[in-house]
Amino acid sequence: MSNASFIVVANRLPVDAVVDEEGNKTWRRSPGGLVTALEPVLQANRGTWIGWAGIAGAAPEPFTADGITLLPVELSENEVLRYYEGFSNASLWPLYHDAVEPRVFRRSWWKSYYEVNERFAEVCASEAAPGATVWIQDYQLQLVPGMLRERRPDLRIGFFLHIPFPPVELFMQLPHRMEILKGLLGADLVGFQRPLAAQNFLALTRHLLGYRPRGHYVTVDDRLVRADAFPISIDTAANEEVANTERVRQRAKEIRAELGEPETIILGVDRLDYTKGIERRLKAFRELLEDGRLEVPKAVMIQVATPSRERVDQYIALRERVEREVGRINGEYGQVGLPAVHYLHQSFDRYELAALYQAADVMAVTPLRDGMNLVAKEYVASRIDNRGALVLSEFAGAAGDLRQAFLVNPHDLTDLKDGFVTAATASPDDKMKRMRAMRRYLRKHDVSRWARSFLTALGVPERSAAYNPGS
Ligand code: ADP
Ligand code: G6P
Repeated sequence: MSNASFIVVANRLPVDAVVDEEGNKTWRRSPGGLVTALEPVLQANRGTWIGWAGIAGAAPEPFTADGITLLPVELSENEVLRYYEGFSNASLWPLYHDAVEPRVFRRSWWKSYYEVNERFAEVCASEAAPGATVWIQDYQLQLVPGMLRERRPDLRIGFFLHIPFPPVELFMQLPHRMEILKGLLGADLVGFQRPLAAQNFLALTRHLLGYRPRGHYVTVDDRLVRADAFPISIDTAANEEVANTERVRQRAKEIRAELGEPETIILGVDRLDYTKGIERRLKAFRELLEDGRLEVPKAVMIQVATPSRERVDQYIALRERVEREVGRINGEYGQVGLPAVHYLHQSFDRYELAALYQAADVMAVTPLRDGMNLVAKEYVASRIDNRGALVLSEFAGAAGDLRQAFLVNPHDLTDLKDGFVTAATASPDDKMKRMRAMRRYLRKHDVSRWARSFLTALGVPERSAAYNPGS
């Protein structure tokens, strides 16, 4: 047994190993909101992070980076296919996102999901100090709380789901639904992004197991398990600091100049994922050009689409559809040197992202379904000038926090189009009021507050290592 007193367990480490053709290994930041949120928490707490290094085959040796001890877990090529791309991202991901894309079930995927969860539980069981706090993350590892409790009943176990938790009737479609529910109930505290998700979970314990939840609690054997909402956030101060640099301000001006000083820049920044509503957003933009309500080059769109899950069928098909639509819009409405949509299938550093945020008049965050959506929060935090307008889907968890955004229903194309036009033409005064209010909210509700409220609810004493850097 080792002596780690605060451990985070997530499918991914905050960095991915990249091996070039000569076999040299370098590290690059992992994609997604989970890493964005947890990295500053772990840096402050000097905790241990157990996760996959993003490549198949033997796990790299443990190492320390920015005060975090990183413990890579091995996944074979077959496990990447079945546990990660299969059960996690072709079965669970679409089902938990209201099946906005059909979910696929294959029996061979489950075995791999089970075995990989067991491996994570074993690594964690052997690393944790007596009575340590273990915080397990997300849908890829839902069996770990139960497996870990069997091995180490002395631990304080928390679980947080970063994505939505579906209503009972959708969850019931899932093969092995009982094992998954029991796995989650191995935790002392199960955290969700929104209250409705916690309610769905508690309703499920009644429906599948006949339990009688009371308030936020349910009794499992002789233990009390709490299920509650803890909306995740960003490191607001760090985002503001980056946005406030000369480098970002200059670059934002440069971007506007390079685009020919348009009146309206509409920006989308997403992982290339079908839950993000990129296709509908492009369609709404095309129809607005068709209707003459927007006009190129006075209005242009930038769509950043980070490569994601590139071997999963639904993602391959999505990329084709998105790129075809971009081509169609540019073919019909672009001019020489002046495309209507600037499409960037790339990752950027935080300075370039902040500059894009600052250059954008309208930020389009229009997922069909999303647990939270940190891009929406980053946009607001980056608008230190209190300008710009956020068009935000009601189906993103963030809509519960950023109430002053221009809220839209992306399933309703008319509403989406109107939302863009309303945001683009709102008075500067109206936009400033909204942005100020949202910035105030994010200053108060940042990621350290999120972590603190979760850990307090888990019963972690305020003076433990989980809160105290370096102890
Ligand atoms: P998800 O976790 O589903 O990807 P979020 O919006 O919650 O969605 O988080 C996405 C995170 O990834 C944000 O922190 C955002 O800044 C980052 N990100 C998105 N696109 C890019 C990109 N092209 N390059 C670098 N980081 C990106
Ligand atoms: C979402 C999920 C995370 C995941 C991230 C990136 O944020 O909630 O668990 O890490 O997307 O996806 P990937 O499959 O690349 O890890």
